[in-house]
Amino acid sequence: MSENTEMLMPESGVNGNTRKVFVKTYGCQMNVYDSQRMADALGSGGYVETKSPDDADMVLLNTCHIREKAAEKIYSELGRLRKLRAVRRETGRDLLIGVAGCVAQAEGEEIIRREPAVDFVIGPQTYHRLPQVVSQARSGAKVVETDYSVEDKFEHLPAPDRRQVRDRGVTAFLTVQEGCDKFCTFCVVPYTRGAEVSRPVSQIMSEARNLVGAGVREITLLGQNVNAWHGEGPDGAEWGLGRLLHALAGIDGLARLRYVTSHPRDMDDALIEAHRDIECLMPYLHLPVQAGSDRILKAMNRKHTADEYRRLIDRIREARPDIALSGDFIVGFPGETDADFEDTMDLVGDVGYAQAFSFKYSPRPGTPGADLADHVADDVKSERLQRLQALLATQQTAFMKGLENRIVPVLLEKPGRELGQLIGRSPWLQPVVCDETVGKIGDIVSVRISKASANSLLADAVNREVERRA
Ligand code: 5AD
Ligand code: SF4
Repeated sequence: MSENTEMLMPESGVNGNTRKVFVKTYGCQMNVYDSQRMADALGSGGYVETKSPDDADMVLLNTCHIREKAAEKIYSELGRLRKLRAVRRETGRDLLIGVAGCVAQAEGEEIIRREPAVDFVIGPQTYHRLPQVVSQARSGAKVVETDYSVEDKFEHLPAPDRRQVRDRGVTAFLTVQEGCDKFCTFCVVPYTRGAEVSRPVSQIMSEARNLVGAGVREITLLGQNVNAWHGEGPDGAEWGLGRLLHALAGIDGLARLRYVTSHPRDMDDALIEAHRDIECLMPYLHLPVQAGSDRILKAMNRKHTADEYRRLIDRIREARPDIALSGDFIVGFPGETDADFEDTMDLVGDVGYAQAFSFKYSPRPGTPGADLADHVADDVKSERLQRLQALLATQQTAFMKGLENRIVPVLLEKPGRELGQLIGRSPWLQPVVCDETVGKIGDIVSVRISKASANSLLADAVNREVERRA
């Protein structure tokens, strides 16, 4: 049987019902994107997605390996699934258990050794093989598939399913790049996701057009190191992310563009200028710096100093003065002294973040950081993290408060928690709670922000008046 015929064969659950798959996603947005592509691939094998493991015939965990806690979570979840399956089997119904993503890639067969309830393990570059792997696993084989390259993955990626895209809403992710060549000494990504590979321009443009054709208004380009993306444009010239954004901005009906996540070293002039010149490129940039001490930045192999980062931020702000900056920070990297940590606090104070993520350093086996001397005690890490997070929270609140009473364009995304509400998104990525009379899902409406809380904004209910004043 050829691969394609097998993919098109509908599979049935008990009593001839369609089989259901529950995909649980851990980690970054790239995993969210991969989970959707896996669901699309399984859709052509007759599986439909369900939102709960309780009525699923298959549970697929799309895993994250970035910190120890993330990886350990998977084994606790697998323990729960083992019990769920035992209960199921008493009633004559089975449950297939699969592990995908970065833990799958990093640990492979070890996962089945540690948790024999797992039926199959599939690496992040192998998802086009998913229907075959599932078929084999359903016949009782234990399958481990982690051998493919990112190029294979991009070549075989299923096109987004129009119906599923519509169900998923008016915003979408689009992976344009995978892997990383930077080798920061704390990070497992270069080992789990491999070397940097960029997706060809034609594939990206056609996927973007498909998404927009299915009703998507906002696309976020994804990559572990997205601003390292490069490729040959239709004009034969070598394009960087700036050129790609210009091309995407030309797609009729696409209202908003974003990209994540970037490395400071790859913010080239064309990309900075894109923030000045492309109106639909949203004024939000996630640009992790990790630490503020040059000594620690060097030990982390970040390839830039704290002042170089400061100067880069100045240039970006010159290009797009209303840009909201976001970052990632690690406290307690081996050798980090009190003075080094104060440098991080100073850098945060100088830059001013609208939002940020911060973590205690977690030694990852196989990375150079794990073998360094002078590991920082956990209570010191906790104390530093607390101080850093308090400062970042103050900055986030200040940014949010600064939006009060302003008229803001909001992309309406989904119904709110309460009747009569819609949730939209501001250009700076915050959720905005709106009255449903402001417009319909997919519209971009101008609303006045009446109140800012820690993580969301509340818009005026009286929209018509707002529109007149806007
Ligand atoms: N320990 C703690 N945080 C880490 N990150 C990556 N590796 C580690 C680690 N070993 C953080 C970095 C990165 C984000 C995705 O996760 O801040 O930018
Ligand atoms: Fe990891 Fe550094 Fe690459 Fe980011 S740039 S994925 S932190 S190695």
